[in-house]
Amino acid sequence: MIIKRLDRNAPCWCGSGKKYKSCHLAFDDKIRRFEVMGHIVPGHDLIKTEKDIEGIKKSAVINIAVLDEIGEKIHAGMSTQEIDDIVMTTTKKMGGIPADLGYEGYPKSVCTSINDEICHGIPSKDIILKDGDIINVDCSTILDGYFSDSSRMFMIGDVSPEKKKLVQVTKECVEIGLAHVKPWTLMGDMGHAVHQHALKNGYSVVKEIGGHGCGNAFHEEPFVSYVSKPGTGMLMVPGMVFTIEPMVNMGTDRFFTDADNGWTVYTGDGKPSAQWEIEVLVTETGAEVLSY
Ligand code: MF3
Ligand code: CO
Repeated sequence: MIIKRLDRNAPCWCGSGKKYKSCHLAFDDKIRRFEVMGHIVPGHDLIKTEKDIEGIKKSAVINIAVLDEIGEKIHAGMSTQEIDDIVMTTTKKMGGIPADLGYEGYPKSVCTSINDEICHGIPSKDIILKDGDIINVDCSTILDGYFSDSSRMFMIGDVSPEKKKLVQVTKECVEIGLAHVKPWTLMGDMGHAVHQHALKNGYSVVKEIGGHGCGNAFHEEPFVSYVSKPGTGMLMVPGMVFTIEPMVNMGTDRFFTDADNGWTVYTGDGKPSAQWEIEVLVTETGAEVLSY
């Protein structure tokens, strides 16, 4: 059993100071019922306290502001290093730290993935944005130990209708995912809905890389798939925070990693890929977007 039963009169695990019986006992019993039915359920460590949520929201204020700033400044002729500089400067000015920098040895403050780059594109003064490019800017922020993580697509100048559609449909995939975030339902149902929308438009979704719990650490359990089967995946309960960030490819879902830098992931067929990412909180009634 993931969810241990405390003594009814013991102080609740959530730190409210209330007795277990008048705080999270009924909530835990509900989770346990899903667990005995064979579902994957979250441990208490994945359920954020009020204090955690407040901290994550403050971190997200910076995360959102940084992406807004990029949105205002991004243009053809700009290097991706300049995007990195804006992320660093804006994040620091607001008191935060870019979470990417130094993460498992990652060398920059943000990921900038252009056209056939699926994710983890590394900013460089030698990579210049040009007319017709689509780019994902994936930004993650730490404030007072709390993490926020979101990404947006930007279209540079005159973008082809095919690429525009990919960017638009990928955004819709995230919106559909969000609409399926409801407490006491399964993540697999959410991921399945995302996948179906991509498939309906003739696209594929990357299976091996996906979303994640987030907030008290950069990457927490569970792995969030957008190629999932209904009736599977972790149970969503109020207080969980995770990302919705499908990587949608115009062609194949196969990919390879840059052999020189060890990070950048490219589509196997050289066709474009798009991604939007939001960070969401599961609430009593549905979901609240914390960062986007
Ligand atoms: N921000 C990415 C995510 O959405 C992770 C980037 S890790 C890095 O999970 F090291 F490449 F920055
Ligand atoms: Co993420």
